[in-house]
Amino acid sequence: MLGKLFLTSLAVFGAVKAQANPCSAKSIKIETQSDLDGLVTCTTISGDLVLGPNLVTATINTIRTIKGDLIVANAVNLQTLIAPELASIEGTFNMTSLTVLGTLTFNSLKSVGQIYWQTLPALTTLGFAAQVTQADKVTITDTILESLDGINLVSVQQFNINNNRYLKEVTVQLTNITDSLAIEFNSPSVAASFPNLTWANNATFRSCGSVSLPVLASVNGSLGFFENTFESLVTPKLTEVGTGTGGGDITFANNTALTNVSMPLLTQIYGTLQFVNDSQVREITGFPKLSVVHGSIDISGEFDEADFPAIKDVRGGFNLQTTAQFNCTDFDQLQGGVVKGSYVCSGAVTNPGTEGTDPTTNGGSGDSGKKNSAGRFTANKSFAAIPALILLVALL
Ligand SMILES: *[C@@H]1O[C@H](CO)[C@@H](O)[C@H](O)[C@H]1NC(C)=O
Ligand SMILES: *[C@@H]1O[C@H](CO)[C@@H](O)[C@H](O)[C@H]1NC(C)=O
Ligand SMILES: *[C@@H]1O[C@H](CO)[C@@H](O)[C@H](O)[C@H]1NC(C)=O
Ligand SMILES: *[C@@H]1O[C@H](CO)[C@@H](O)[C@H](O)[C@H]1NC(C)=O
Ligand SMILES: *[C@@H]1O[C@H](CO)[C@@H](O)[C@H](O)[C@H]1NC(C)=O
Ligand SMILES: *[C@@H]1O[C@H](CO)[C@@H](O)[C@H](O)[C@H]1NC(C)=O
Ligand SMILES: *[C@@H]1O[C@H](CO)[C@@H](O)[C@H](O)[C@H]1NC(C)=O
Ligand SMILES: *[C@@H]1O[C@H](CO)[C@@H](O)[C@H](O)[C@H]1NC(C)=O
Ligand SMILES: *[C@@H]1O[C@H](CO)[C@@H](O)[C@H](O)[C@H]1NC(C)=O
Ligand SMILES: *[C@@H]1O[C@H](CO)[C@@H](O)[C@H](O)[C@H]1NC(C)=O
Repeated sequence: MLGKLFLTSLAVFGAVKAQANPCSAKSIKIETQSDLDGLVTCTTISGDLVLGPNLVTATINTIRTIKGDLIVANAVNLQTLIAPELASIEGTFNMTSLTVLGTLTFNSLKSVGQIYWQTLPALTTLGFAAQVTQADKVTITDTILESLDGINLVSVQQFNINNNRYLKEVTVQLTNITDSLAIEFNSPSVAASFPNLTWANNATFRSCGSVSLPVLASVNGSLGFFENTFESLVTPKLTEVGTGTGGGDITFANNTALTNVSMPLLTQIYGTLQFVNDSQVREITGFPKLSVVHGSIDISGEFDEADFPAIKDVRGGFNLQTTAQFNCTDFDQLQGGVVKGSYVCSGAVTNPGTEGTDPTTNGGSGDSGKKNSAGRFTANKSFAAIPALILLVALL
């Protein structure tokens, strides 16, 4: 009895205290607009602001800073959310499952710890007049946003934009993405443009209509292009992909319209360079400076020309399988010297396979295409000559 009384008085005390200073509560739960209006004295909220499920329109007045999270989840009737003064959300701006939210107007918002928006099927545009220029992590998934105008970041850890089926453009002035970049499953025509991006850790582009990376110089992890609809991909400034400790691949897979890849300055890859299922690629000749591959070169498809004129060290294997007639003579000289791992080169293969598959079981003849003549390939003769010399010395 005594204990219960004690607890009750504590609760009353807590409530009174919260009422006395609502701005510094750990978490404020809002059910109605008048709850929001009750915060009129607050310019800074110390904790989280959590908007309940029954709101239809909500206006967050006077508050300039939320030190915790702004959470709006499962408010299925919420049509309009307005926060004219709010400039900074230090925690997560979490909007999840807001079925009819069509108006989002945060005209002062500039800085957010983390943007996490999921399932916003009525939101087409952002009313972010001031533009969000700072955020550590951004995840925007399953919305009908047509553009990300209003979000223009310089640096971010994670930038993950996926399943936004009307999203036609992603253009951000990011210069550095320290953790991961993923643009996946948006509108098939989405133009992904990163005009200032020089450094990325891991980057994945899936089902994009175009990808522009004009100043990207270095990728610390992997760089992958999957199921895109563009014809051409150029990274004019890219020199290196991966690290000695973590590897780092360049992958082109299932890009059905791709014809031309050009990476004119790429010199070193710490993982594998792979082309697979890119049915329109006829030439793999866009790697004029590639000299060291710590993983493998694994190219399969329907190309009739491949060229790695600067190659001098492939620590993994070499797999070339193509449906076209292909003269492997020059590549054969890389075997055992330049190429340290297993070596396969085969033209006229019915179902060209990736590294580890046997061209004879893929419908090829199994010999390394010496009978074929249509393929052209130029190896760097000064390097190609080295293994032959070593072989000669070994024989003597
Ligand atoms: C956002 O809110 C939803 C619903 O409350 C929750 O399931 C999810 O974990 C939250 N996400 C983040 C990143 O805070
Ligand atoms: C990008 O960020 C990473 C990790 O913080 C850092 O190592 C790298 O130097 C930065 N690169 C540029 C160009 O700012
Ligand atoms: C991005 O590059 C453009 C020119 O390409 C430049 O005008 C702009 O200031 C750059 N933005 C940042 C944030 O560096
Ligand atoms: C980097 O990308 C590769 C392949 O695209 C993936 O397997 C790996 O998990 C990613 N790493 C990080 C840290 O996101
Ligand atoms: C680069 O990648 C390596 C290997 O995955 C990782 O250990 C390192 O932290 C990354 N560097 C940066 C600056 O993120
Ligand atoms: C390419 O597409 C096929 C068929 O849709 C799929 O099975 C495969 O996993 C895809 N490959 C990659 C590397 O994404
Ligand atoms: C491929 O792209 C590069 C760089 O844009 C260009 O110089 C080259 O002519 C293109 N090749 C083909 C076959 O389109
Ligand atoms: C290539 O495409 C075929 C058919 O779509 C699929 O079965 C296969 O898994 C793909 N291969 C890879 C390595 O993605
Ligand atoms: C071929 O190798 C030589 C010897 O190292 C080098 O000087 C030359 O630049 C290479 N050629 C090409 C086209 O990379
Ligand atoms: C294949 O290429 C080599 C070296 O370029 C050449 O000597 C040989 O005649 C070619 N084979 C055929 C069948 O064209």
